[in-house]
Amino acid sequence: MIILACDHAGYQLKEDIKEFFNKENITTIDVGTYSRESCDYPDFAKIGNQKVLENPNNIGIYVCGTGIGMSMSANRNPKIRAALCTSVAFAELARRHNDANVLVLSGRYTSKLKAISIIKAFLTTKFEAGRHARRIKKFS
Ligand code: RB5
Repeated sequence: MIILACDHAGYQLKEDIKEFFNKENITTIDVGTYSRESCDYPDFAKIGNQKVLENPNNIGIYVCGTGIGMSMSANRNPKIRAALCTSVAFAELARRHNDANVLVLSGRYTSKLKAISIIKAFLTTKFEAGRHARRIKKFS
């Protein structure tokens, strides 16, 4: 399942992403925020993380203005590996090398089209494991 979370600055891109998944008949869980009214991104990273960790196959997509605050707060949870990606190459590497379970996007600096291509890359790239698994184990 795909879990969507955002703050006010990520709201529009999160809505665009939800629309993209709806058209593809892919179900998402949207944990908010649900409007452009100012709010605090750590609150939504926390709720998103809880949902992502309900099932090991879940993937989170979080959006704030830059993506920086969302990735910092999401990564406070030791079981979350959130990667702020601004390119398809980073999305592929975040999956291949880091086994990222949360993709973070910038609502203010990443266009809808770019975001969709980043998402497609993130969702279709597999973790390579091997030496990368050893390194990830050292996170804890
Ligand atoms: C909100 O204005 C903005 O600070 C937030 O969305 C994010 O960019 C923080 O990292």
